[in-house]
Amino acid sequence: MAGIRKIPSTILYPESCIVYPQITGQRANGPTGQRANGQTGKRKMKVDGKDMRPIWLHEDQITVQVIDQRRLPHELVVFDIATVDDCIHAIQHMVVRGAPLIGVTAAYGVYLAALSAQRQNDPDSFFKDECRRLKTSRPTAVNLAWAVDRVSHAVERVIDPSKRATQVRNEAARIAEEEAESCRRIGENGVKLIETIREQKGEEPVNLLTHCNAGCLACVEYGTATAPMYAAFEKGIDIHVWVDETRPLNQGSRLTALELGKCGIDHTVITDNAGGHLMQHGMVDLVIVGTDRTTGTGDVANKIGTYLKALAAYDNDVPFYVALPSSTFDWELTDGVAQIPIEERDPEEVRVVEGIDQSKSRKVLVPPLDSPAANFAFDVTPARLVTGFITERGICRATAEDIRRLFPDRAAPTLE
Ligand code: MRU
Repeated sequence: MAGIRKIPSTILYPESCIVYPQITGQRANGPTGQRANGQTGKRKMKVDGKDMRPIWLHEDQITVQVIDQRRLPHELVVFDIATVDDCIHAIQHMVVRGAPLIGVTAAYGVYLAALSAQRQNDPDSFFKDECRRLKTSRPTAVNLAWAVDRVSHAVERVIDPSKRATQVRNEAARIAEEEAESCRRIGENGVKLIETIREQKGEEPVNLLTHCNAGCLACVEYGTATAPMYAAFEKGIDIHVWVDETRPLNQGSRLTALELGKCGIDHTVITDNAGGHLMQHGMVDLVIVGTDRTTGTGDVANKIGTYLKALAAYDNDVPFYVALPSSTFDWELTDGVAQIPIEERDPEEVRVVEGIDQSKSRKVLVPPLDSPAANFAFDVTPARLVTGFITERGICRATAEDIRRLFPDRAAPTLE
């Protein structure tokens, strides 16, 4: 049974919310990592002093647990996923979200399918059908299909249902580790861009802008777009981040602001429409966003509104970078606008705004009761507007040739 479980010692509103990223390793500001402002640099999430990821397997080994991201930043609630139905519900209803985390969740969903298959008359066809269901739970993030395919192919030749379940579980855990490591490397590679800007600007803070949440919560650790920010902070570089609120579900103001704030990174939440104005006035040095699916030719699907940021960045000569692990490339596609499926979500998400009022969560209707709404969840930024990609293997331009040079082992398409 899917269950919502509050962690008793950490009912969080809001000052006591202690989800924050923790930096590990060498720090620039002395052996304790203590910064001038008294903050300790942090990069992994910690709750009650313990490292916490947004997903883990419960010690019973049959329940997957996730942080319920719908309840952040005001409450830390753990959501139990015990069946494939629970897993699909969690993905569709945004209990978990963000391309890499959707992939890891789906991989663990395949594990739950493998466990159930052991009790079926025809375990093989049951398992395959459940994998198909998982793959279609959200359309845009390619990590979902990639992860389901990877774990199911890994056990293609395993006949014994019990052995199959164990191997699927191990493969899902491997994906989680690999995604965390990819994000760590994205941080190492991307921080060089921030260092270059800092050298040009001198002592002034480097101003970044990001859209949606491509942070620890969207990944397993570090985040993609946030990883270079955490790495820069760790090196003692003075940064400030403009955080697009990211309507309608406010992943920016709810989640990115929470992550950056708990880490001690200077940030300001802005409306989704403010970025162009800030860029015109020289108040943005670098845009870094994540992506849900990027074609082998460099077209980028990401949260709705990303395209408009890229246009504004192009018009104002502001570098626009996309941070992604290789699991987010779709090597099959060559034309993002024509080929990437764009999720359309419930219009009520646009009409109704949710927030906290005197410690109570409230939903309020904004437009007239009978005004219809449309809710396109993603858009595609053409490669020509993207300055470059920050990946686990390094930074490259947004062209098929450059991407292929960085990933020669992957089947990037050749343009006619
Ligand atoms: O609808 P969401 O919240 O799943 O959308 C998430 C995004 O658009 C992120 O920017 C993207 O998944 C990259 S996460 C590293």
